Amino acid sequence: MNKFVFDKFLKMMRFTSAINYLLNGLRSSVWVLILMLVMDSCKNDPPIIESDNSVPCGTPVELVLPDFYPPFPATPDNPLTEEGIELGRHLFYDPILSGDNTQSCASCHQQNASFIDKDVKFSVGIDGQEGFRNSMPLFNLAYARRYFWDGNSRSLEELSTVPIEAEFEMHENVFNAIRELQESDKYPGMFYRAFCDSTITSETMSKAMAQFLRTIFATTLKIAPGSVGQQSRTPQENRGFMVFLDETKGDCFHCHVVNAFNTNFEFINNGLSEDPTLDPGLFAHTADPNDMGKFKVPSLINLEYTAPFMHDGRFSSLDEVLDFYDTGFHSSPTLDPNLQKHLDPNGKPIPRAWSEQDKEDLKVFIRSLRDTAFFSDPRFSRP
Ligand code: HEC
Ligand code: HEC
Repeated sequence: MNKFVFDKFLKMMRFTSAINYLLNGLRSSVWVLILMLVMDSCKNDPPIIESDNSVPCGTPVELVLPDFYPPFPATPDNPLTEEGIELGRHLFYDPILSGDNTQSCASCHQQNASFIDKDVKFSVGIDGQEGFRNSMPLFNLAYARRYFWDGNSRSLEELSTVPIEAEFEMHENVFNAIRELQESDKYPGMFYRAFCDSTITSETMSKAMAQFLRTIFATTLKIAPGSVGQQSRTPQENRGFMVFLDETKGDCFHCHVVNAFNTNFEFINNGLSEDPTLDPGLFAHTADPNDMGKFKVPSLINLEYTAPFMHDGRFSSLDEVLDFYDTGFHSSPTLDPNLQKHLDPNGKPIPRAWSEQDKEDLKVFIRSLRDTAFFSDPRFSRP
């Protein structure tokens, strides 16, 4: 069984972990060697068929997560495997999945920018058409229950065909994409090794992509309760954290909660619109009037890489965001109670009791919520 170990935390654990780390490195290099040999040996062979028992397939992966993480949600229908994750990575970076073979998932989700579309308000698809949502960073996805700003997708398996087919994104018919994968030199073998079957289906393609996405994590020791990192906060970051918690000042923690991920993964109306029916959010997928205008609560981790902000990219700076939570948000029937309470009887926001210094401190604290180790982690890089 192969271990998928989180290097930085291991490094923290020093001695034992260093040994573990080396062992793990050794194990992966051996694995890569085997993989290379296998790939080399089947270059000119016909595609591997299901009954070929000589090639290993579906090697289970044991995730080793820091102990302040909640247990990793089990996915019995799609268990993580070494080869599945690797295949997912190849698919994520491969433009073969788009209509004109020019765009991959990575075109709009760049590793060195927290997997967001860097400096772009709305991403542009293969036909030059702009979308209408700000791209989302990709980390801690394993713990979410719904995906996309408006919760359009309930699982990572369900999700990956959405951008492939979207007109303003990769604009490709999934069956075409699968045909191209099946006809390629490398993919039938990779699918065999991941799923013990070289016949490619949209199900196995989505499963591989989901496995890869599930292994990307980001956390910050500046906020995760129980981690040593809390003690590493500077005095100003500490003051900012107090503003974040103070119910008369920032009062941010109800939604961007104090946990390893800095979000409750809920869908909430934070008052962006006077008339949420114009952009109904989660309601569009549940038809529940209580979901009107609700959007995914994002983590504030790595915010300095992900401007502009909000689902429609309306704010370009943290100052604008703070002004919004101060006096700019709107009352509506589904506005969250934690913002309702900051309204006066006429439904207008009551200015927060924060000083300029408080706001400076809050910004410094928010900017300290960063984890950039995965920006250069080869497990998530272009193969
Ligand atoms: C043209 C740009 C573009 C491409 C290509 C693209 N995405 Fe996205 N991605 C976006 C945007 C924009 C959003 C937010 C969309 C929304 O909420 O409606 C998003 C959202 C997501 C999310 C949701 C994250 C969350 O926290 O809920 C995931 C996961 C994702 N994309 C994965 C992928 C995968 C996998 C591919 C390739 C199959 C892909 N994307 C291709 C732009 C793109
Ligand atoms: C009642 C819940 C709630 C509270 C309280 C709250 N937020 Fe938010 N926040 C949200 C939701 C929901 C979104 C996404 C809204 C959207 O784009 O539709 C969001 C988005 C953001 C974003 C944009 C992030 C991105 O990636 O685009 C920032 C920054 C932010 N909030 C900061 C704060 C700060 C700072 C505070 C405290 C002053 C705060 N929030 C209080 C729910 C909340």
